[in-house]
Amino acid sequence: MTDSASTLPAPTQLDPLRISEDFPILASGPNTGERLAFLDSAASAMKPRQVIDSIVATYEGGYANVHRGVYHHAATATRHFEGAREKVRSFINATTPREVIFTRGTTEAINLVANSWGRTNLGPGDIVVTTELEHHSNLVPWQQVCAATGAELRFIPVDDTGVLVLDDLDALAEGGTLKLVTVVHVSNSLGTHAPLDLIVPWAKSHGALVMVDGAQSVPHRPVDVQALGIDFLAFSAHKLMGPSGVGALWGREELLAAMPPWQFGGEMIRRVEYSGATFNDLPWKFEAGTPAIAEVIGFGAALDYIESIGGIAAIAAHEQAMTAYGYELLAAIPGLHLLGPGPGEDRGGVLSFTMDGTHPHDVATLLDARDVNIRAGHHCTQPLMKRLGVHATARASVYAYTTREDLDRLADGLGEVRRVFGLA
Ligand code: ALA
Repeated sequence: MTDSASTLPAPTQLDPLRISEDFPILASGPNTGERLAFLDSAASAMKPRQVIDSIVATYEGGYANVHRGVYHHAATATRHFEGAREKVRSFINATTPREVIFTRGTTEAINLVANSWGRTNLGPGDIVVTTELEHHSNLVPWQQVCAATGAELRFIPVDDTGVLVLDDLDALAEGGTLKLVTVVHVSNSLGTHAPLDLIVPWAKSHGALVMVDGAQSVPHRPVDVQALGIDFLAFSAHKLMGPSGVGALWGREELLAAMPPWQFGGEMIRRVEYSGATFNDLPWKFEAGTPAIAEVIGFGAALDYIESIGGIAAIAAHEQAMTAYGYELLAAIPGLHLLGPGPGEDRGGVLSFTMDGTHPHDVATLLDARDVNIRAGHHCTQPLMKRLGVHATARASVYAYTTREDLDRLADGLGEVRRVFGLA
């Protein structure tokens, strides 16, 4: 499952029903009163009581603005806020909390690198390589910054199943200077895993930096920024059972130190005159304005929660089992076409599919009546959908609280969809 899985000890086995008891929203669905079969964690994960309690505790017992006040609540909030930074550091094995910048999420983290590093370091003759798998969030910022700087954006292609084709990487670096390779670690639309063990050494052999969109990997498998040998990592708290509106950019300290601030005001300032300003040290140099205080503290609580249920390796193993089980169930349904890598390949816990004679939105709507929640649409990857010749897919995704029964209910519901559409 991981880029260095063979060296890891066997993970704890998760008990998803026990874990589900921590998630109030899963207890009963709004349409049937049955357990909510929530299969849309790739969009946003549900929150355990421990995270909800952390947010309530901050507002009820330890809230004030951070880094500003000398009174008790201000000191408490600041301590917990910076404590969350240390938890994020530890979770991804960064060398120092100075390398962890809190952002609004993955999208803002990527925009920060594109606008700060990109606009300073890219110019005509430079090449940025990304992949045909990308979420719009790791595509459009680079389109914009390349248009503004004269750099060229090139793509590692996918094959017809949505797996990356790495046969001719060197051709992508020809005729210019390869400056950055920016890749999604696990595709949100297909579950494709990008083999960073191949991509990173190739990028480094050209002297390029590597940015990883970890939105769908950091919540689901161990990600060690030092072991991967990458330069930037972006991810969101809400996909790892933390609050929405917060995420992190990790970057190597020397790179972040050399980058100019992107947004100005508040905590990122050191000294201001009417004639100009100087800026704070890392990481605050990139944290303008009052941050999402309770949400950052809740982010830390989500990381504690992951540890408390067995850790990220245990979640990865559970998801692998659930994905294999779900894949088998869906593959047996007549007229259903699964996209993305096969069940035996290294893949994320995303099952994306189309069904003959149905539209994905109708599929998701009929399933909702049974309190089975999946996502339907283009998943913010319109160019990838076009490349694969579909407008949209239905997508089920798993997490620590997913049970076999949830996936059985998905398969039963899809049988009902076929009957409703006169296909069975
Ligand atoms: N990027 C999120 C998803 O894939 C929202 O659903």
